[in-house]
Parts: sequence; structure tokens; C-alpha cells
Amino acid sequence: MAKKQVMTALAALEAHRVEMGHQRVVDLFAADPGRFERLSLRLGDLLFDYSKHRLNDATLAHLITLARAAGLEEKREALFSGARVNNTESRPALHMALRNFSGKAVQVEGRDVMPDIFAMREKLYGFARAVRAGELRGSTGKPFTDVVNIGIGGSDLGPAMAARALSPFAKKGLTTHFVSNVDGADLSDTLEKLDLSTTLFIISSKTFTTQETMTNAQSARARVAAVLGEAAVGDHFAAVSTKLDLVEKFGIRAERVFGFWDWVGGRYSLWSSIGLALAIAIGPEHFDDFLRGGHEVDDHFCNAPLQENIPVLMGLIGIWYRNVWGFGSHAVIPYDQRLARFPAYLQQLDMESNGKSVTHDGALVSFATAPVIWGEPGTNGQHAFFQMLHQGTDVIPVDFLLAAEPVAADAHHHDLLVANCLAQSEALMCGRSRHEVESLLRKQGLSQAQIAELAPHKVFAGNRPSSLFLYHRLDPRMLGRLVALYEHKVFVQSAVWDINAFDQWGVELGKELCNRLAPIVADDKADTSSLDGSTAGLIEYRRALRSSQ
Ligand code: F6P
Repeated sequence: MAKKQVMTALAALEAHRVEMGHQRVVDLFAADPGRFERLSLRLGDLLFDYSKHRLNDATLAHLITLARAAGLEEKREALFSGARVNNTESRPALHMALRNFSGKAVQVEGRDVMPDIFAMREKLYGFARAVRAGELRGSTGKPFTDVVNIGIGGSDLGPAMAARALSPFAKKGLTTHFVSNVDGADLSDTLEKLDLSTTLFIISSKTFTTQETMTNAQSARARVAAVLGEAAVGDHFAAVSTKLDLVEKFGIRAERVFGFWDWVGGRYSLWSSIGLALAIAIGPEHFDDFLRGGHEVDDHFCNAPLQENIPVLMGLIGIWYRNVWGFGSHAVIPYDQRLARFPAYLQQLDMESNGKSVTHDGALVSFATAPVIWGEPGTNGQHAFFQMLHQGTDVIPVDFLLAAEPVAADAHHHDLLVANCLAQSEALMCGRSRHEVESLLRKQGLSQAQIAELAPHKVFAGNRPSSLFLYHRLDPRMLGRLVALYEHKVFVQSAVWDINAFDQWGVELGKELCNRLAPIVADDKADTSSLDGSTAGLIEYRRALRSSQ
């Protein structure tokens, strides 16, 4: 029934798009001086401007109808009440409990999990304070100067992104590093510049079985044992995991092990003990602010009416473009160098969550799901891929992220940064018509023949959509808000598409095949005849390369 209603709502949106035809956003602004006020929302000092999108009141009404047809409100209720929304793994997805400051209980299988969360957070904060204060020291008695987080995916991207974003809030003299890739260069390039006697390693892995993380962890352990002695290992390692038995086997002391729970998905785990490296860097008070920012968004997501709900609109506008206009990618461009890893973080959040082809009950989806998420900070992107955003054949909706004021950076630079960001979103929307180009060229004194030759290259179609998030400063609370907004946007889309945003079976096959190939790759004499022709050929060619010279 719900599916039928969703298809009906999508069909109505399709008809509405045809009706809208080639209506231009600049004309919508001209006809409605209050458009910016009406089509922007606030959450504290954060302003979400969605006025530059190809939409009007009717579009929004259709999108809200779609959300209701998909049961978004009921699904949100199920998410927050701890229902097993991750049906293929039979688990709730309750990362919001980790940032719950409401004072209310959060039940998992009839048990309030808040006391466990508070206890774990206290342990984590105690450890972070001791490292920061130099009370907790390495085996030679020196305080730690460097913290290396070893993890991958959700056990890396979140803390790595946030540590960079919040670097002005980090303790001086204590540097955080992130090693994720099984490529040995990642670990060795990181360790090359470090003094192991003042280095603390945090092994972050929900499952404590991930090949890349365990390989890096074993190599780091071997290095510490070789340089400082086997007895030093206990002083230089801590771990974050849900698999406490496996951590114990690795040899990490219980007081340095920080657990979390299987109802926290990897890509939603930055709020949990996985944030340990971040908490050490910025300190418990700032980490708490980060959590509070996330909680504010939960509150907003649960209580604001759908048409005034920022993550709901983010999700629905994304669906408008993905499913009705057929746009296949979505760019996130922070005008903030310290948010350089935010697009990569969002790639896992969005594409691992919603990159699915079947619905909750295993039926093939009838429409496109997750778009490609990508991006780089402005202004650098302007000198790389913005050409395509402005004049390419694909329309790519953009999210711009911008702070009104910098944190620990030059104000004059920041004015230029702001001007660049606003100019790009303006240029995308307004474009430059053939008529405008021709009159500009005429003013420059070009001949009619020259104008005819040059003009087509200088035309900007415009009407290219973007959202802009404008906030006071990028501080821990704001980062918490931004992350939670995107988390709920992803959930909104999964609700409309009826897909499970909390599993990730698509990463399994590659892992399995790698385990099968690893011994064949490592042994030059191993038989490749059971492999497909291409894989066998590539392995043979590598063997030939290695045995040449
Ligand atoms: O990429 C697959 C994945 O399972 C992610 O979902 C997860 O964030 C990552 O691997 C790391 O997993 P773990 O924390 O268990 O090492």
C-alpha cells in the first residue's frame, strides 16, 4: 500500500516537473521578493538556504506528500524508539543515544542504555584527561606527544575528519595522526616522523577483525616491541571495540579498552568511544559540545514540522533531483580548508548507507538510490572541477558550507573566502545568457564575427541548484550539528526509498575474495588456474615484473 502511494507521489512530482518546465530560479526570485526569507531555515546560528533550488511551494508540498506516503514520521519514530531498523542484522540504530542530553531513557530490548553510555564516556574522558595532562606516560616515563589512531572506514573517517576540522581547539604539543590503509606506506610514513617513546596508539575497530586495521595494529605493535621492548607494549596501546575478548587477546590492558555497542553502526560511531582520538585532541569539554550539537539536531529532526525540518528538506530535495530530474551526483563543497575531509566522511555516510538496490524486504528498488557524493574545499575546487559544474552537460546540485567568521585564521582572507563562495552559488544560479555575453563582448570592441565565434563558449546556462549552510564559526558544536544533519538526511532518503541504511553487505564480497587471493598473491608458485582469466593474467604479469631485472 505504502509503495503504491510512494509511486503515486513520485508520479505527481514527475508531472509537476514537466509543468515547471524550464522555469528559472532567477525568475522565481524576481516574482517573489520574500523567497530567501521563506526558503531558508535556522537552527541556532546555522542558516540553511534552499532558495536557489528549482522548486516552488507546490514542489515542497509534493515532496512532503511523498515523505508522508513513505511513512517517514513513523519510521523516524521507530528509529528513535530503538526498533530493529537494521533488519538484515536484526539491530536498532541508536547512535543518537550517544549524544542524548534529554535526561530521558533510551531503551534497547527493554533496557535503558544511558547508564552504560555515561559510564563509558566517563572512562573515556578520564583517559583523555590523563593523556592530555601528561599523567599517563609512555614506558620510558615521558608524556605522550603523538596519538596514532589505527582504524578504517567509520573507525577512521569520522575522527580524522573531526580532528582536522577542530584543530584550533586541539591541545598544543599533542598531535593526532590517522593510519588507515593496508598500504604499508601509510603506517611507515606516519611512524617515520614520530618518537615511539612518546607515541600512543589507539586501535579502533568495531569488529577487531578488519584486515587493514589488524595488519597495521600488528605492525605497529611489532615496531614498539622492537624499539622499546615487549614490556612497553601495554603502555603504548589502547583500543576501542565492541569485541572485548579479541582486544584482550591482542594484549591491551582492560583499563585502556573502550567499548561500544553493536547498535552503533561503524559510519555512525564518531559519537562513541571511536571518538577517543578526537576527545584526547580537543578535550572532554569540547567533545561534549560536539555531542550537544548532534543532540540539538536530533531534537529538531524529531520535533520540527516536516516543511521546516532541515534534514527532511535536505533529503527530499536530494530525492527531487535524484529521482525526478535524474541527476546522478551531489557535490559538497566546504569553504573551509579544515573541512577538507568532510566530503570523504560523507561518502561513507551516504554511499555505504544508501548505495543499495533492494528494499527492506529484498525486492528490487524501482528507482535510483544514493547519488555519487564528492567534493573538495573551496576555493581550490574552483580551479579544478568548477568548470564542469558551471558549463558541463551534467547538472550537479551543490551544498556549500560557510562560516561567517574564521577560527584562528586571517579575517581578510576570510572575507575573500566568503566572497568566493557566494559568487560561485550566485554564478551557478544566475548564469550568463547569450544576450549578456554578446553585449559584453560588443562593449569590449570585438567584431561581429569574433563575437559569433566566442559567444557560445562564454555562455553559462545557470539555473544550477545549490544549498548554502551559513553559520557563525566552525566550532565543536557546529561540527556536531553538521554531522547529525547529514546523518538524518541520509535516513530520510532511506525511508523514502524503503532501504536499510544501516547494513553494508556490498563490502563483503571484495573482502572474501581478497582473503582467497592473499595466499596466491604472496606465493609466486601458487596455482592460479582456478581464477578468472583476467585475475590470473594480472597475477602472472606481476610475478613476471617482480622476477625481472
Ligand atoms: O567498510 C566496511 C566496514 O565494515 C565499515 O562499515 C566500517 O566502518 C569499517 O568497515 C571498519 O570496520 P571496523 O570498525 O569493524 O574495523
